[in-house]
Amino acid sequence: MLIVIAGKGGVGKTMVSSLLVRCIAELKKDAKILAIDADPAANFADALGIKSLISIGEIIENFANANQDKENNNKKFLDYLQQKISENTAHTEKFDFIEMGQGEGAGCYCSVNDVLRFVLEEKQKDYEFVIVDCAAGLEHLSRKTTTGADVLLIVTDLCEAGFRSAETIKKIAVNSGVKEDAMFLVINKAKIGSEKVKTSSEILNERIANTKILEICRIPYDENVAEYNASGNPLINIPVSSKAHIKIIELAKFLTG
Ligand SMILES: Nc1ncnc2c1ncn2[C@@H]1O[C@H](COP(=O)(O)OP(=O)(O)OP(=O)(O)O)[C@@H](O)[C@H]1O
Ligand SMILES: [Mg+2]
Repeated sequence: MLIVIAGKGGVGKTMVSSLLVRCIAELKKDAKILAIDADPAANFADALGIKSLISIGEIIENFANANQDKENNNKKFLDYLQQKISENTAHTEKFDFIEMGQGEGAGCYCSVNDVLRFVLEEKQKDYEFVIVDCAAGLEHLSRKTTTGADVLLIVTDLCEAGFRSAETIKKIAVNSGVKEDAMFLVINKAKIGSEKVKTSSEILNERIANTKILEICRIPYDENVAEYNASGNPLINIPVSSKAHIKIIELAKFLTG
């Protein structure tokens, strides 16, 4: 199952991705899980509490630097890529991890996005769950990198801009061939019950309805998440009683059925 996590910058994609990795690992003890950081800003490894190895971007660059002559190198490149990707997949007891990094410089054989498409195709054979933490924005979807998603989680916080992004992401995802029934809205940092209540919940409901995306999960503002992030502790280790963890366990149960 390919699970892709998208959304506007700063809404909580990496938080959702990392806790989802943990929760699916807790629920499906023997399942092989691969976490992929598709964000060039690359902080998924920190959230997962692991050390990343060489990124795919660096692998591509190393090959390009060593093979200036592009002629007849395609097969060599694919072989090199396959070998280096497997060498640079980080392994933990519960999941494996690949960092895409960046790399689109002149002379490169193909972009990180092209290679991500290849990695997703290849790796889905070996893993029961592949979880992709996307960069903010639309690139992965518009370039059809993640078209094969079984589940596209579109994360937003309560801000209008987050919902607007969610709508755009949905449109682009539909155009690039993601099935509509694979798309779900995740609302994050919801300050439930603490505001001037009625109007704000009415506005929120209206915003949700306008996206025409099915809300699958509402995660409250969680002090533990904020605290772990601020102090640089891996999010994956937050207490099981944390509000975010409780909600993501429910989400993981739904997804893994
Ligand atoms: N439920 C939550 N409660 C409190 N703080 C949260 C919650 N979810 C995320 N945050 C905080 O919001 C910030 C952004 O979260 P995160 O890095 O997961 O977002 P992102 O969408 O991956 O961002 P980027 O687009 O930069 O990759 C972090 O400081 C995190 O601690
Ligand atoms: Mg992130």
